[in-house]
Amino acid sequence: MLVCPTREEIRALTAGYRRARRSVGLVPTMGYLHEGHLALVREAQKWVDKVIVSIFVNPTQFGPNEDLSTYPRDAERDLKLLKAEGVDGVFLPSAEEMYGSRGGAFVEVPELSGILQGALRPGHFRGVATVVTKLFNIVQPDVAVFGEKDYQQLTLIRQMVRDLDMPVEIIGHPTVREADGLAMSSRNVRLSDDHRRQAVALSRSLDRAEEAARTERNVTSLDALIRQELAAAAVGKVESVDIRDASTLEPLGDTLSGPAVVLLAVRFGTVLLIDQRVIGKI
Ligand code: PAJ
Repeated sequence: MLVCPTREEIRALTAGYRRARRSVGLVPTMGYLHEGHLALVREAQKWVDKVIVSIFVNPTQFGPNEDLSTYPRDAERDLKLLKAEGVDGVFLPSAEEMYGSRGGAFVEVPELSGILQGALRPGHFRGVATVVTKLFNIVQPDVAVFGEKDYQQLTLIRQMVRDLDMPVEIIGHPTVREADGLAMSSRNVRLSDDHRRQAVALSRSLDRAEEAARTERNVTSLDALIRQELAAAAVGKVESVDIRDASTLEPLGDTLSGPAVVLLAVRFGTVLLIDQRVIGKI
């Protein structure tokens, strides 16, 4: 496994693969890897000959009051995990390497970056779209794998690739969970014991919503049911509960008429947890 701290090195590696007619997959991450990230690596390995993982805590997707400085990091451990998975190359740049000579160009997906999580985190999705575009241009992968856990991010990247004709296929992978249902996240380590116990309410309320949607088609009733479930568990601050069209993230009418996605964001102290579930599949 080759670890590349510069754009030049990772470009040379993937250019070599392409010359040898090997297909290349990319799994972008911010490190502090868990089973969810490793599942994306295994997914990528099914599609391509060579898998590259990027580890970069991207400053441009964090707001001024967000957790950039406390975002957990452990590159040594990450590299051990990736080596054990048989990853071929790791792109591990510094912020200077990624943005040092930057003149301020960015990528924006306006319909999707200002809504939902984007409304709570101004600038976040512009940072994501820009860094993912840079990673695609540096690595030039045939395929890139993203988690459904960050559902709005996955939807936005699909839209960006479609609208800008980027020559990469986007693969989504289902959310990987802890035994009690909590979606795995690098941020989970920062939950207190109490909050960790309460956090299971996110996935539990999604289970309830999925089950209820088999017979209950009224969107307001489903929304109320989810909020009740979260309130009963006395969880942290419920930032948002949204039920949207599963492919466009547009608001729904009164009645569920096709696949919808429930998007939750709940704050526990300083830790913002998100989770999602597609319901109403026919
Ligand atoms: P990060 O939060 O490290 O996540 C990297 C990838 O892992 C994303 O595609 C995310 O959706 C996926 N992932 C995280 N937890 C998961 C889980 N429990 N199950 C399945 N997949 C999971 O998302 C980012 O980094 C950044 O925004 C990035 C795309 C790297 C751009 O900076």
